[in-house]
This record gives sequence, C-alpha cells and structure tokens, in this order.
Amino acid sequence: MIVLGIESSCDETAAALVKDGNIILSSVIASQTEIHHQYGGVVPEIASRMHINAIVPVIDQALKDAGMSIEQIDGVAATRGPGLIGALLVGFSFAKAFAFARGLNLVGVNHLEGHIYSSFLSEDCPEFPFISLVASGGHTNIYHVDSHDHFELMGQTRDDAVGEAFDKVSKMLGFGYPGGSIIEELAKKGNPDKIKFPRTLLEKDSFDFSFSGIKSSVLRYITEHKNEIKDLIPDIAAGFQAAVIDVLTIKLIKACLKKKCTAIAITGGVSANDTFYKYLFDKALKYGFKIYVPKKEFCGDNAAMIAARGYRMLLNKNYSTFDHDVFSRNKINSTGIKK
Ligand code: KG4
Ligand code: ZN
Repeated sequence: MIVLGIESSCDETAAALVKDGNIILSSVIASQTEIHHQYGGVVPEIASRMHINAIVPVIDQALKDAGMSIEQIDGVAATRGPGLIGALLVGFSFAKAFAFARGLNLVGVNHLEGHIYSSFLSEDCPEFPFISLVASGGHTNIYHVDSHDHFELMGQTRDDAVGEAFDKVSKMLGFGYPGGSIIEELAKKGNPDKIKFPRTLLEKDSFDFSFSGIKSSVLRYITEHKNEIKDLIPDIAAGFQAAVIDVLTIKLIKACLKKKCTAIAITGGVSANDTFYKYLFDKALKYGFKIYVPKKEFCGDNAAMIAARGYRMLLNKNYSTFDHDVFSRNKINSTGIKK
C-alpha cells in the first residue's frame, strides 16, 4: 500500500510517499525556519501563508523523487492536530480535496502519534512494548507503547515543552529560533558542571515534567552576570542542556523500569540532540535498555512519520470523513492517545 503523507502542523510543509508503512519512497520537507528566525519564534499567520505556497510544489516533488504518478497512490494521511489551526487547515484541506478527487481513503493523523511512528521508519526499530518520548517544541510526553493501537500517556510537561525551553534560553542568550541546535553547538565549547542549574523532578512517582523553573534560573543567572556574560555563554548553554538531559533521562529510565520494558525510543526535534542520545545511551547501558532514535531528518516534523502512522489507520479502516475538522490541542482518547 502506497500512502501519501502530508504534514503542516507548524513551520514545515512536508510530503512523503511511504510503502507498507516503513519503506520510504520519498520525503520532502520545506522548512520555514529562516523566515520565522527573524521574529524569534513561529508567526502563525506567516506560517499558514507559506504552507499555501509550498503545499503543491512539495507534493509534486515527493512524487518526482519517488518516480511515481498520482495514480499509484493508494491512500492519503494528513496531520489533523495538534498544531496551529491555520497551518493544519492547509495540509488537511488539501488532503481532503485530493482524496475526494482521486476517490481515495483519507486518515487524519494525530501529530504526536506520528512522532511515535518515526521510530518505525528504520529497519532497526523497537519491538513492543517500549517507552516512547515525544520531545518537541510543543510537547514533552512519555508513552508506554504496547501495540500499534495502544499508547498510554504516562507523563507530560506541566508548563514549557523541552524544545520550547531550548528556544527560550537561546533567545535569552541573544541567539535566535529554533534554539535547540544553537544551544547544543554552544554547549560543546562549555563546561556542563560549571553552573549547576536545578533538576525539577516533581513528585516521586510522577512522570510529568516542568521546565519553567530551569528557564527562570537561567534568566536569573544571566541577569546577575550581565557584565561577564559573553565569556559565560558556552558554560550557561552546557549547564542548561546537562540539567534538561538529566531530567529526561531519569524519567525515561524510571518509566522503562516501571513498565518492565527493555527499549526506549526518543522522537521529536529534541531527539536530534546527540549529547542527549549519548547521555541516555550511557545511562541505559547499566540496565541493558536499548535506545532508538530516528535518522536526523525524521526527528523533527516530517511527513514520512505521518504516512507511517496513517498506514496503520488505513489498515484499521479508521478513516476521516470530509466533515472532520483539524484541532489545535490534543483530544483525549480521540485517536488512541490516552491522557
Ligand atoms: O518536532 P519539531 O521539529 O516540531 C514540533 O513539533 O515542535 O521540534 C522542534 C523543536 C524546537 O523547539 C527545537 O529547538 C528543538 O526541537 N530542537 C532541538 C534540537 N534540534 C531541534 N532541541 C535540542 N537539541 C537539538 N539539537
Ligand atoms: Zn512535531
């Protein structure tokens, strides 16, 4: 089954053709980050307009890269939410029109389930049951995944998402959006042990996160050291990153032990952070846990993960009808994700 995947939930317009859920025939991502960079974050109205300009060329390119024609597509999967409403509407409305015109089945994919499925886009993928982290600009969720149709949400952030914290600290240090890769690069030149930022672990049995405290600590430190800040930037970046990575690692290992799993799959933009992967890998060795991370191009938003999840939904006949709307926030249990 060849599925056309479409993603437009934030600032990437993406299309992919995926065969049988995991064979990637093409994956095209048109990123808007350069435009949003100058505003220090994603401007929703600009994002929507750019999706409109990009959607047809991106799908054309995906067909061209796969050497295929539209007649060869068997089903359509598009992100339905959560995300920016105007941005989602572009991709999902296009998908509806395309599916209607071609007489194809359409599935509306939950973006977070899509991220979980980025773990299946490689031959070396986790076996059920496993722990999955979706760590992006909007979410920090830990799931216990025990089948293709069951994702139990074990914990989530109570305030900022981890990627959002990276973005905000980057901004505080005078750098732009998106901040994750900027902080990671700066941290390479710094000492992670020089400035000890707090690790917020919340209640003993909680798998929830809170990143607003560390963000405020960084801001306080910057304010208190503004005269010498230039020399301290790499150490601040390294100290912040170390604290955040430590918290993610502690919670993931605890979740894996609790659910008696042997594998942890990290996904979302933050999983592109090599320092995080290495730290988690080293800590998990002691327990014999295997760590999975998608290829770099599939860590952030992409359409191959949407097609991969969509394939399962098409198999289950979990179709979207043309009166289905997009949604900005996760709907509890609406698509299998439990809160
Ligand atoms: O999954 P994603 O592309 O989009 C959302 O669904 O939000 O994630 C984007 C987030 C941004 O906050 C960005 O700063 C963060 O992922 N990110 C990183 C890295 N690369 C991207 N965070 C830490 N380290 C990185 N190398
Ligand atoms: Zn995402």
